Amino acid sequence: MSTPEILTEREDGVLWVRIHRPDKKNALTLAMYAALTAALDEANRDAALRVVVLTGSGDSFTSGNDIADFLAAPPTGEDSPVFQFLAALRQFEKPLIAAVNGMAVGIGVTMLLHCDLIYVRAGATLLLPFVNLGLCPEAASSLLLPRLIGHPRAAELLLLGEPFSAEQALEWRLINGIGADADATLELALTKARRLARQPPAAVRLAKALLKRSEAAAVRDTIGVESRHFIEQLHLPEAVAALRAFLERPRS
Ligand code: COA
Repeated sequence: MSTPEILTEREDGVLWVRIHRPDKKNALTLAMYAALTAALDEANRDAALRVVVLTGSGDSFTSGNDIADFLAAPPTGEDSPVFQFLAALRQFEKPLIAAVNGMAVGIGVTMLLHCDLIYVRAGATLLLPFVNLGLCPEAASSLLLPRLIGHPRAAELLLLGEPFSAEQALEWRLINGIGADADATLELALTKARRLARQPPAAVRLAKALLKRSEAAAVRDTIGVESRHFIEQLHLPEAVAALRAFLERPRS
């Protein structure tokens, strides 16, 4: 499935996947999730592709799930595009590099927990507003985030929805590095991607699988549990009211 809002470009063994809906801060629609899933599945199958780099257009990485879609076409189960995308991310066998060119919200942050190398633009803000919207953590963030940064910090991010910066993320060892601007961030990602593309591919895949092995079953299980709660929460009045409030907010 293709959409002009997900752009792909090959350079030797590297596949660039760009979220391209800049006028909506790269908010992800059903079609965009489906296209992201298709790009990952294709990259998994294509032996000539060794690495995938994920980035965004304009000033944002992604503002997360399209909020209008949450109300009009909420996910209903494992077949829903968002959960298919999470499954593709979790099962992706090759190195995945994120070049976070600007703000990342919701799944824009949780997808980073499934990337192998993460570079973020200096000063970029990251935000996990699930609870603020009456929702719950997804993409195994309820498991992976406290493991990576400890429960107290994870609670600030997930229960309070407190924003955090690229610089804090680096200090907490959530990311690999910071680029001075979007171009420098892309360059950092590209340099590593080119190096990874020259590494022996089967050994890279094996090493990635081994790095993930100890938590693979728990991640799969947690995504399943979170997804069921997420689907239920989306129908509750507190979530519907919070999502409508965003769409109906006064604009200047
Ligand atoms: N879903 C749908 N539309 C979105 C969106 C989203 N997740 N994020 C941004 N947009 C739209 C805005 O409605 C606006 O559309 P308009 O020009 O038709 O009014 C456009 O993108 C620009 O966003 P705006 O809010 O004006 O930009 P900003 O720089 O002031 O704020 C954000 C950027 C990301 C902080 C803000 O848009 C936001 O909070 N978005 C929602 C993020 C979110 O809660 N995602 C879900 C997580 S589970």
